[in-house]
Amino acid sequence: MHCTIGIDVGTSGTKTILIDEEGRILATASREYPLHQPQGGWAEQNPEDWWQAARETLRDVMETVDPSVIRGIGLTGQMHGLVLLDEAGAVLRPSIIWCDQRTGQEVGDIRRKMGDERIAAITGNPAVSGFTLAKILWVRKNEPALFAKVRHILLPKDYIRYRLTGAFVTDVSDACGMQLIDIRSRDWSPEVLEVFGLDRDMLPDVVESPEVTGRIAPQEGLEPLEGVSVVGGAGDQAAGAVGNGIVEEGLVSVTVGTSGVAFVSSDTVRTDPAGRVHSFCHAVPGKWHMMGVTQGAGLSLRWFRDQFGNDSQDDGYAGLMAMGEDARITADGLYFLPYMMGERTPHLDPDARGVFFGLTARHGRREMVRAIVEGVTYSLRDCLEVLRELGIDTRTVRVSGGGARSSFWRSVMADAFGNPVIRTNSEEGPAYGAALLAAVGTGRFDTVEDACRATIRPVDETVPDETRATIYDVGYRVYSGLYKSLKDNYRQLRDSILEVERIRKLHADC
Ligand code: XUL
Repeated sequence: MHCTIGIDVGTSGTKTILIDEEGRILATASREYPLHQPQGGWAEQNPEDWWQAARETLRDVMETVDPSVIRGIGLTGQMHGLVLLDEAGAVLRPSIIWCDQRTGQEVGDIRRKMGDERIAAITGNPAVSGFTLAKILWVRKNEPALFAKVRHILLPKDYIRYRLTGAFVTDVSDACGMQLIDIRSRDWSPEVLEVFGLDRDMLPDVVESPEVTGRIAPQEGLEPLEGVSVVGGAGDQAAGAVGNGIVEEGLVSVTVGTSGVAFVSSDTVRTDPAGRVHSFCHAVPGKWHMMGVTQGAGLSLRWFRDQFGNDSQDDGYAGLMAMGEDARITADGLYFLPYMMGERTPHLDPDARGVFFGLTARHGRREMVRAIVEGVTYSLRDCLEVLRELGIDTRTVRVSGGGARSSFWRSVMADAFGNPVIRTNSEEGPAYGAALLAAVGTGRFDTVEDACRATIRPVDETVPDETRATIYDVGYRVYSGLYKSLKDNYRQLRDSILEVERIRKLHADC
């Protein structure tokens, strides 16, 4: 038997899966952990929580088989998060994660120092507040004493690799999200490092996703895994794309996880001159990808569940979906902008905020849930529209992630995109992709494309209804107009929050 494991260090929790040589899932385990928001727009997590979750879930899946059949482990996880370690490998501060929006000023600094055009020519993307470079600059400016102790800069999944193997390594797809990689040479850019005064030695080595990066070191509780190979793995979006078979041109995936992403593979480097979608190296050696990202997809629904709850007995989402399905299409004139953590595609605006628009005394929780589902879907349509504008065929859409498990949400997607949406047999997204990358890296398959062809196939299709699609076109026009109307108000809101904070500090009793 040739089994492999995929570990996905996600935002709401870590999921670990075990697959056999045919790609069948033998075991899955997961653990949740908290997201800390010490200030509005900030988002941090504790790397120790990730490590405990990875260890515990590894032990859970390992117990289901004779561990000698486990040949390799692939790592994936939330991208862009900043993990800072000192000389001894100790974590120096909580990780500032992907959806944190504190770096508006640093984005301005990057633009002034290098110019959006030059940084985009090298890294494939203009300065983005969620990317790791802006976070590094923020810590260097705001926490200089702490920054002086930094010896290693890692991404979330690569911190788990370090704890498992002792190696400081990342893979090229995740590394692109740091905004320090030359997208063409698939290695750190000497020019970007020099402009921002960053030391190459602080950064991990970069490998292609299926490459073996090290072996599991002796670990208490993980003894049976000692010596097992750990491959490069990939950022969660590239790994999720592998897990969904998006490794060749002509297919698009739409994933509704904490964030929402529309993703395409590309045989060449292609970029959006307006920077609305990201261009990164793919987890497939020699290929690239483009993706549009909406920051608050499942995150918006989780917020609603946590704040306002529902009456069901399960984890809450199935109950919420039933409520949303019960409301009328376009939520009886209620719209939701899912900019709870700012927005990337298409606005690239860290100051954008969530909005319910059109609330009346008639509306209740049902309409609010429906408006969230529809608002997130419109925002994914925004991503597809940009890809279409760049000449990419987006007619064959594969859906995945928590949102795609709901038949209601799949039908909203089919209707609002005006395209059929297809589900595959592979439901575990990034963790599955990471396990496949491990299978390639340990010799079970020759290439990532072969691995996908052998294991992933479509299982069902949801087709759009013509009338509902027409109604959603009307709704999309209302949705699209809202950001334009609010753009200046968002600036005003940001400035007012800073001003109120300044006045409060002067009058401590306020
Ligand atoms: C991608 C992105 C998110 C995170 C969390 O650019 O920021 O998908 O990786 O899932």
